[in-house]
Amino acid sequence: MDSIVVRGNGPLNGQIPIAGAKNACLALMPATLLSDEPLTLTNAPRLSDIATMTQLLQSLGAEVTSMQDGQVQAMSCHGAINTRAEYDIVRKMRASNLVLGPLLAREGRAEVSLPGGCAIGARPMDIHTDGLAKMGAEIDLRDGYLHAKADGGKLKGAVIDFPFASVGATENILMAATLAKGTTVINNAAREPEIVDLATCLRAMGAQIDGDGTSTITIQGVDRLHGATHRVVTDRIELGTYMLAPAICGGEVELLGGSIDLVGAFCEKLDAAGISVEETEKGLKVHRKNGRIRAVDVVTEPFPGFPTDLQAQMMALLCTAEGTSVLEEKIFENRFMHAPELTRMGANIEVHGGTATVTGVDKLKGAPVMATDLRASVSLILAGLAAEGETRVGRVYHLDRGYEQVVRKLSGVGAQIERVHGE
Ligand code: EPZ
Repeated sequence: MDSIVVRGNGPLNGQIPIAGAKNACLALMPATLLSDEPLTLTNAPRLSDIATMTQLLQSLGAEVTSMQDGQVQAMSCHGAINTRAEYDIVRKMRASNLVLGPLLAREGRAEVSLPGGCAIGARPMDIHTDGLAKMGAEIDLRDGYLHAKADGGKLKGAVIDFPFASVGATENILMAATLAKGTTVINNAAREPEIVDLATCLRAMGAQIDGDGTSTITIQGVDRLHGATHRVVTDRIELGTYMLAPAICGGEVELLGGSIDLVGAFCEKLDAAGISVEETEKGLKVHRKNGRIRAVDVVTEPFPGFPTDLQAQMMALLCTAEGTSVLEEKIFENRFMHAPELTRMGANIEVHGGTATVTGVDKLKGAPVMATDLRASVSLILAGLAAEGETRVGRVYHLDRGYEQVVRKLSGVGAQIERVHGE
């Protein structure tokens, strides 16, 4: 198993290019199931999760060709479709459940394995299945699989009120509704930029969608969708992660491709902590205003609130802030597993349920630590960039799921970082 070794090396300076969004691409790729014409995605990130989605779509009968070093995904589903998403693939990546809506819409049936447990929370699919049931799908759970069948072979439009603005459920219902008979309205829909990106792509394929980016999305079903080419939106979580590098270490870094509208709530917290974020022609420039970071309180919320996927990284910053910060995790019930690892590096953190209290210390100290999930892994790397001595982060396969070329991007701005194979 690979690990990443980081040594604190002072301020970082230079530019970091930000890739296309993992969480947009994982929703965009299943959209190919909605048409028998080609869908091409450009600016796709090169990640192990994208490779898993490719494997899943190929197992369903799609042709997926990766080009230009993986930044272009050309997909097509003109042949016969297999409607069964196997456990062996689904258990590797929860986002596999985003084939449920498109398969039901196209074939009138689907057998999708439930993903099973996840480190950060229970993550049920009730909002997905209740919504599809409203559209006339009969769904039951057998042998660990959701068996779904559209009444009369075709879904019908419905008014669906979500109890919570779930990202995945919004994406599944949005895709399913594009080919349904009649109009679907999703109330309390998720508003994340990845939803807007998906809706933009579906419109390019001929779908009729209004209201994406707001809490109410209306979809007028059509008979068929055609092919399209779509550029994947910038990854706001990768962007936020690297914005924290100069914040934690000092120096000034420009994030190429970044924009404030993707990270508004996050920038407000950075500003309160003493970090300057400026828009440039090419992206965002980040540096400390002066001296030490100030403590701030954070509550994670659905977009446009503070993203849960930046909570761990923000905790790494606040470990050396002046004063005490309180972080409340409101989206997932078990997303503080990075805290004990940061404590091994000398941080002062108390966790009670969904609340973590971080009292800033002068300096962190390098130590061997373990990644427990994707965002926790990168928070340990960020902490290591500012720590005294060496930090060795184990189980970095978590990191490969969501960050491409971490070593190259961070060493490009002066970090001392390397990947060590098989240790
Ligand atoms: C997406 O997950 C992202 N993943 C997550 O990013 C992200 O943390 C999350 O949205 C929230 O922003 C992808 O896009 C692939 P949800 P998703 O449905 O769709 C509960 C990362 O680090 N819920 O909005 O699974 C659920 O348990 C990952 O890149 C139900 O109760 O998130 C959770 O507590 C991690 N029933 C909350 O809602 C449901 O049917 C939010 O889940 C669905 C969700």
